[in-house]
Amino acid sequence: MDQISRILDAGKIHEEDSDHELSLRPARLDEFIGQKKITDNLKVFIESAKLRKKSLDHILLSGPPGLGKTTLAFIIAQELGVNLKATSAPIIDKAGDLASILTGLEEHDVLFIDEIHRLSPAIEEILYPAMEDRSIDIIIGQGIGAKSIKLNLASFTLVGATTRTGLLTAALRDRFGIPLRLNYYEPEDLKKIASRTAGIIGIEMDDDAALEIAKRSRRTPRIVNRLVRRVADFTTVLKHERIDLETTKYSLERLDIDELGLDEMDRRILTAIIEKYNGGPVGLKTIAISVGEETDTLEDYYEPFLVQIGLLKRTPRGRMVTAHAYKHLGIELSRMAEDNQQILFDEDVN
Ligand SMILES: Nc1ncnc2c1ncn2[C@@H]1O[C@H](COP(=O)(O)OP(=O)(O)OP(=O)(O)O)[C@@H](O)[C@H]1O
Ligand SMILES: [Mg+2]
Repeated sequence: MDQISRILDAGKIHEEDSDHELSLRPARLDEFIGQKKITDNLKVFIESAKLRKKSLDHILLSGPPGLGKTTLAFIIAQELGVNLKATSAPIIDKAGDLASILTGLEEHDVLFIDEIHRLSPAIEEILYPAMEDRSIDIIIGQGIGAKSIKLNLASFTLVGATTRTGLLTAALRDRFGIPLRLNYYEPEDLKKIASRTAGIIGIEMDDDAALEIAKRSRRTPRIVNRLVRRVADFTTVLKHERIDLETTKYSLERLDIDELGLDEMDRRILTAIIEKYNGGPVGLKTIAISVGEETDTLEDYYEPFLVQIGLLKRTPRGRMVTAHAYKHLGIELSRMAEDNQQILFDEDVN
């Protein structure tokens, strides 16, 4: 495989996703469950681009891991009826590599760049004119004889995905005409995803079992898919005909996933903040060291969900565990922690 094919391959499959998961990916907008506001608007923009025979404006997809950013990028290309070239920012390290990718694009193609917040500044510089004027400046030759020439590109659509819009430079962010932020899913939608997945892997599932998985999947489709497969494993080995509520609850208990969908690491994070730092406030790096997890993983994956369900709060002085988290973990608020909780209260009031 040559260098460019290798770079273009990297955007396709998330390291976590097995081949199996690829077949679970919805291929059309109509199969994409939930995020209705986003998909309804996308339909209009795609339809309009097709009617006007223009390339679709550049799209930035942001949101926590596993909510469907990569899936949507593939769907967009599919719905437009164009080629998709996919890559990931961390592996584009040479300006020439990006230039080759860009010049290889055909009219209206989609270029998907995953983890786009991780582009190096030098590479970003090349993207600006590519996005704005569909051209790039390349330097030919060296030293005194070097000259810059302008190359025109096909009119393409850049689809960028990021778990962290905050890390994108304003210059890059502003060049996307269609910023789309994916939110955590509603239980009803996750339930539909669970049933769809069970159908695809060929096992029947009761409605209440699907809802149980939905409630305990961190409001994330990727987790729904993972749990459906694991519960299917237990069901098969127990020689049950279909996935029922009882087996689902039993399996989730075996997997250490509690009623709120927290896993062992979530609980470890909350417990560490409570036991070592009296419930906070404490900095993210300190938490990461206490639980033995990467700061990035905490920030991208664990924290947003814990904040979303009200167990953790971000304050200017650091992260704090809420009273709700104490209750969920069955830990009594100590006197000192109660004083700390006052900080949270004051923040809410102000
Ligand atoms: N709306 C949806 N309906 C059905 N399945 C979905 C939906 N969204 C995502 N999925 C499933 O969840 C899995 C994860 O989605 P995807 O890989 O697109 O997430 P992502 O946002 O790109 O995550 P990451 O930030 O980790 O790259 C997909 O394989 C797909 O099967
Ligand atoms: Mg992805």
